[in-house]
Amino acid sequence: MLAVFTAVLGSFQYGYSLGVINAPQKIIETHYGRVLNVLQNDSLLNGKEAQELHPSVTMYWSLSVSVFSVGGMVSSLLVGWVGDSLGRIKGMLAVNILAVVGGLLMGLAKMGPAHILVIAGRAVIGFYCGLSSGLVPMYIGEIAPTAYRGALGTLHQLAIAIGILISQVIGLDFLLGNDIMWPALLGLSGAPSILQSVLLLICPESPRYLYIKLGKEEEAKKSLKRLKGEYDATKDIAEMQKEKEEAMKEDKVSLLQLIRSPSYRQPLVVALMLHLSQQFSGINAILYYSTAIFTRAGVGQPVYATIGVGVVNAIFTMVSVLIVDKAGRCNLFLIGLAGMCLCAVIMTVGLVFVSTYSWMSYISMSAIFLFVSFFEIGPGPIPWFIVAEFFSQGPRPAALALAGCCNWTSNFIIGMCFPYIEALCGSYVFIIFALLLFGFTMFTYLRVPETKGKTFEEISSEFQRRRHAPPPGPKTATEMEFLEGSTDA
Ligand code: GLC
Repeated sequence: MLAVFTAVLGSFQYGYSLGVINAPQKIIETHYGRVLNVLQNDSLLNGKEAQELHPSVTMYWSLSVSVFSVGGMVSSLLVGWVGDSLGRIKGMLAVNILAVVGGLLMGLAKMGPAHILVIAGRAVIGFYCGLSSGLVPMYIGEIAPTAYRGALGTLHQLAIAIGILISQVIGLDFLLGNDIMWPALLGLSGAPSILQSVLLLICPESPRYLYIKLGKEEEAKKSLKRLKGEYDATKDIAEMQKEKEEAMKEDKVSLLQLIRSPSYRQPLVVALMLHLSQQFSGINAILYYSTAIFTRAGVGQPVYATIGVGVVNAIFTMVSVLIVDKAGRCNLFLIGLAGMCLCAVIMTVGLVFVSTYSWMSYISMSAIFLFVSFFEIGPGPIPWFIVAEFFSQGPRPAALALAGCCNWTSNFIIGMCFPYIEALCGSYVFIIFALLLFGFTMFTYLRVPETKGKTFEEISSEFQRRRHAPPPGPKTATEMEFLEGSTDA
């Protein structure tokens, strides 16, 4: 528990950095205006009249928001390299330097050209988050006992959700989201890494990394005993030995080999689709722009409704922690996507009719809360840890890197494009997500295998089997067409 707690401090930081930029937008824009000497109207200080913003303020603000994802997109590709060359523990330790530097740049923003310092800080923190959002699930996936791998893997997402919530709460204007304290609010993004660095010093390295990657049997055994207490490690070592033998048959798998090799195609396509489903479900359209959406839906206190979203987000991730190893990944993912699809339709109905029937605002608000709940039941946590389950030790780091990059890129696309699409489609914007969600639900039903309670070896042989023959059961006929289609392609 200590090892997992320590690791997910990195996830907490990711969530905090995702959420922190929302609340203080107007205040920071005003400060940028002052620094750039283009402030036209000091009533901006009250958070009003955003339309009077100078174009250069808007540009610097957009950059401050989006450079975070650019940092993550680039660095997520380095996850495999960092995790393999430094090890999981030293890797997480080393990248913390980035978090501290990023936090300091933002925390000291008022001492220099604030817009430049915030942009630099957000880029560095984004770079850090890209690495930690890959290293954390990699470490947890490798140290978790099979029976709890889902629950422990979901703790990564729980820490993200808690990070988002905390940043929303302390971003309120009477706490840190005001003209004086906003640098501290942003700078705190780097704080958990100090605690994490201290705790990492006493955490055991991943036994799989020690045994399979470095061939250090004794150290792997020691590490296993530190994780599980005094016990006979023979069975675990034998399982790792099997995986090692498999890994030795293949060369070290680079990103390019992973993409090219037909034997990894099935798990890779499924892994990337799960990440695409997570992002193109529209969750971040809600999380980034919830205040505006609540205003459109006619909700009285949109800021508090946004915090409500954060609370629901965290609570339902906890539900997922409790049930994921019993209910199974595939079922929860399916229920989550299908539920979100329905909510997106209801949300649209609410938004379209709110001007005619004012009570429709309650329908929209309930649909938003339910949308977030369904997300956290499955589509939120599962993609983050299931990729480590799909791949054995050889291709795992490259697969995590590619999946992470896919996640960050789609997150960036949604963040950038949603305001434009919303301007174009108005109240009908969530119909697009409903259609996408329907497609992802079908894909999950037809193609995603269950990994609950299986060893890494069993999972990879399940994929091998699917490559050669479709699994038995009610889906067989349709799946056969799919598999044939993909082999031909
Ligand atoms: C997942 C997503 C992230 C989203 C978060 C919401 O971690 O990857 O983009 O903001 O869930 O809880």
